[in-house]
Amino acid sequence: EAGGVAVSRSPVITVMGHVDHGKTSILDAIRKTDVADGEAGGITQHIGAYHVKSEAGDVTFVDTPGHAAFTEMRSRGAQVTDLVILVVAADDGVMEQTREAIHHAQAAGVPILVAVNKIDKDNADPERVKRELSDLDLAPEEWGGQTIFVEMSAKNNIGIDSLMENIQLMAEMMELKADPERKARGRVVEAKLDKGRGAVATVLIQEGTIRTGDHFVVGQFSGKVRALLNDKGMPIKSAGPSIPVEVQGITGVPSAGDEFVVVTDEKMAKNVAQARTLKARESELAAGSK
Ligand code: GTP
Ligand code: MG
Ligand code: NA
Repeated sequence: EAGGVAVSRSPVITVMGHVDHGKTSILDAIRKTDVADGEAGGITQHIGAYHVKSEAGDVTFVDTPGHAAFTEMRSRGAQVTDLVILVVAADDGVMEQTREAIHHAQAAGVPILVAVNKIDKDNADPERVKRELSDLDLAPEEWGGQTIFVEMSAKNNIGIDSLMENIQLMAEMMELKADPERKARGRVVEAKLDKGRGAVATVLIQEGTIRTGDHFVVGQFSGKVRALLNDKGMPIKSAGPSIPVEVQGITGVPSAGDEFVVVTDEKMAKNVAQARTLKARESELAAGSK
C-alpha cells in the first residue's frame, strides 16, 4: 500500500494505579471537567480515552479502572500506550493494583512516570512513596534513579502543569511518528451494543486516517464507517494517528483489544471477517474435542 511520510503524532498516555488514588480526578483537573463525580460509586468501570489540546502540545489520555476486578482493562491500557502515568496516593502508598500496574507497564515495555497524588492530605507521605517505589526498581531521579516523580494534588490543582511538562519532555524524547496518509489501523479500547446506534466501538487510531465511508475489519466483524464521533460525542469526518474515535456501523460488538483495520472494499472486509469467524469456530471445535 502506498503511504506518505511518517510525521510526528501526539503521545498516548495511560493513567494507571490503585483504586481511588485519583486517576480520573487528575484527568478531570487536566481537562477541567468532572467525570469522577458522575461515576457510579465513584469507581471507573470502563476505559475512557480523551484527546487534550495544550499549549505545550496535544496529548491523548487513556483512563483505566483501579478496582481489582479490572485487570484485563489495565493490561490492555498498557498495550496501546506510549507512556504510563502511575498514580499513587501519598497517604496510601504502594498498594496491590499499584504493583499490578507496574507489572503491566513493564510487560508492555512502556516507560513509567509517577504522579504522587493527594499531597494536600494531612497524612500524606510522599517520601514513603518514593522509598516503596525504589524497592520496585522505580527510584526517583533526585535519588540517582531514572524515574520522574511529580508531586501533586488533583483536588487543589497542584502540580498539574508540572505533570503536563514532564509528559511533553518524555514524549519529545520518544520522537513518536505515524503516517497519516495510510489506511487507518488502530485498536479497540472498548465496545458495546448501544440501543439507538447498534454496535459501537471506541477505537484508538494508531496509523493512517479513518474516514466516514471506510470499509473495515475488526475482530470477527466487518463494517462500513457510518458515523464517527470524537471523545466529546461530536460527529467528525476523519481522525488521524493517536486520536480516539467512536465508530458506528459494525456488524457486531468486537472485543476490547481487537485490531481495527481499514481495507479497500466491502468484499475484502466481509471475506476477512468470515475467514476469522471460521478460524475461531475451528479452534473452538478443536478445543471442545480434546
Ligand atoms: P478508580 O478509577 O475507581 O480506580 O479511582 P480513581 O483512581 O480514578 O480515583 P478518583 O479520581 O475517582 O478519586 C477517588 C477519590 O479521591 C475521590 O473522592 C476524589 O475526590 C479523591 N481525590 C482525588 N484526588 C485527590 C487529591 O489530590 N486530594 C484529595 N484530598 N482527594 C483526592
Ligand atoms: Mg477512575
Ligand atoms: Na474512584
